[in-house]
Amino acid sequence: MARIPIATLLAPTYTFSGTDTAITVAGWVRSKRESKSVAFLVLNDGSSQDNLQIIVEPSSSAFALLSRCQTGAAIQVQGTLRPSPGKGQSLEVLAQDLIVYGEADPETYPLQKKGHTLEFLRDIGHLRPRTNTFGAVFRLRHHLAYAVHEFFSTRGFYWVHTPILTASDCEGAGEMFTVTNFDLNKPLPKTPQGQVDFAQDFFGKQARLTVSGQLEGEFMAMALGQVYTFGPTFRAENSNTTRHLAEFWMIEPEVAFADLQSNAQLAEDFIRSMCRAALKTCPAELEFFAKHYQSMTVKDLEVLAESPFVRMTYSDAIETLTQSKAKFEFPVKWGLDLQSEHERYLTDTVIKGPVIVTDYPKEIKAFYMRLNDDGKTVAAMDVLVPRIGEIIGGSQREDRLPLLEQRLTEARLPLADLQWYLDLRRFGSAPHAGFGLGFERLVQYISGMANIRDVIPCPRTPQKIEF
Ligand code: 4AD
Ligand code: MG
Repeated sequence: MARIPIATLLAPTYTFSGTDTAITVAGWVRSKRESKSVAFLVLNDGSSQDNLQIIVEPSSSAFALLSRCQTGAAIQVQGTLRPSPGKGQSLEVLAQDLIVYGEADPETYPLQKKGHTLEFLRDIGHLRPRTNTFGAVFRLRHHLAYAVHEFFSTRGFYWVHTPILTASDCEGAGEMFTVTNFDLNKPLPKTPQGQVDFAQDFFGKQARLTVSGQLEGEFMAMALGQVYTFGPTFRAENSNTTRHLAEFWMIEPEVAFADLQSNAQLAEDFIRSMCRAALKTCPAELEFFAKHYQSMTVKDLEVLAESPFVRMTYSDAIETLTQSKAKFEFPVKWGLDLQSEHERYLTDTVIKGPVIVTDYPKEIKAFYMRLNDDGKTVAAMDVLVPRIGEIIGGSQREDRLPLLEQRLTEARLPLADLQWYLDLRRFGSAPHAGFGLGFERLVQYISGMANIRDVIPCPRTPQKIEF
């Protein structure tokens, strides 16, 4: 008999066809309670936030196997479904037959019934998906990823697959991991100037892991009109914070014939749509997060999904920050970048909600952003949200060839390597804009998980790579 996911059994849509309904379920034992006359197993199979209660009576053949059904054991149960008289569940299973696939020695299995700290669970990343918290995180993550594709596809965007191995540095920040096929235990080939000679490496030039799919996304948008990427990106920045990973997933829409205003509107619609998707697909998970991680309540999320985002310019943000009585660690001055503490102050304290900050000084932003008429600022935008700070960074792109060449020269970036990018301005150039959303920061925001390491199965951070 095929096993039924617990989520299917406990869904409001499941039609219970009487106490004789024979079913098979399989999963991992969360806990066991035994007496002489009856035993209760709590089973979870990962399909749902809810567990299924299994009743084992001494008359069934399953009773003799109970000693092997420790917390963590993998079992299959055949039995009949019946309404549960107990609190907390509508249905339960009366066991007839039981298979113990794999025991879990209580002396050594790390996940016992008591709660564990998130730090402890980070050290057993291969077992933590079996906890309530991480089950909820990874189910939410899946549903949000699915909703990302739905959001863009229904709006006529094409998902384009930009490369992971790249020859260009999109952000021009030099925070890239090199990919090489050289035998690093042998002396490396050198150029006459004493530099590593990548001409002799696999690709004939230096290859790296991408920091962003934007530049390639731009040439796809300049043909298909509206595109988005959704894939892994890598940053070799030595940031040990609760919001930085060395490997994270980014969603980057890019739209032809669009300006900064429509870009900001797309970003707002997108985040609000993600909130609605979470409310629709993960109600039990959201209840769980609200209860255990003091994150947004379901009501907060509903309000967020319905409320327009505040917009302010960078200059206004600096003004607000300098006028405030708050004490900041980092200086606030026109021309300096906003630090995380400033972003948090604007969202958490001033606006008490998301805010889109636009028109930053050109010196602190990437080379590709469109110069505003004031000659000092660029058509940039950052979307800031409470608890996280920056969740989206984007801009209208510089579509005028001479101005882009000038920005590249000022930033001392290699013009020769970016001729293909300049071609987009030589041939059929058009206003276009896009942004990047850090997917883990979105999952953090909606789940309320405080640390970004807790919203991705295998976090990569400085000095740490497991699996
Ligand atoms: O602001 P960033 O660097 O922008 C870009 O990469 C642009 N090329 C995007 C575009 O316009 N197409 O990064 C975008 C977002 C940030 O707002 C943040 O949410 C996330 O990516 N991000 C990180 N997330 C986790 N760990 C890191 N180290 C991150 N760096 C950026
Ligand atoms: Mg940014």
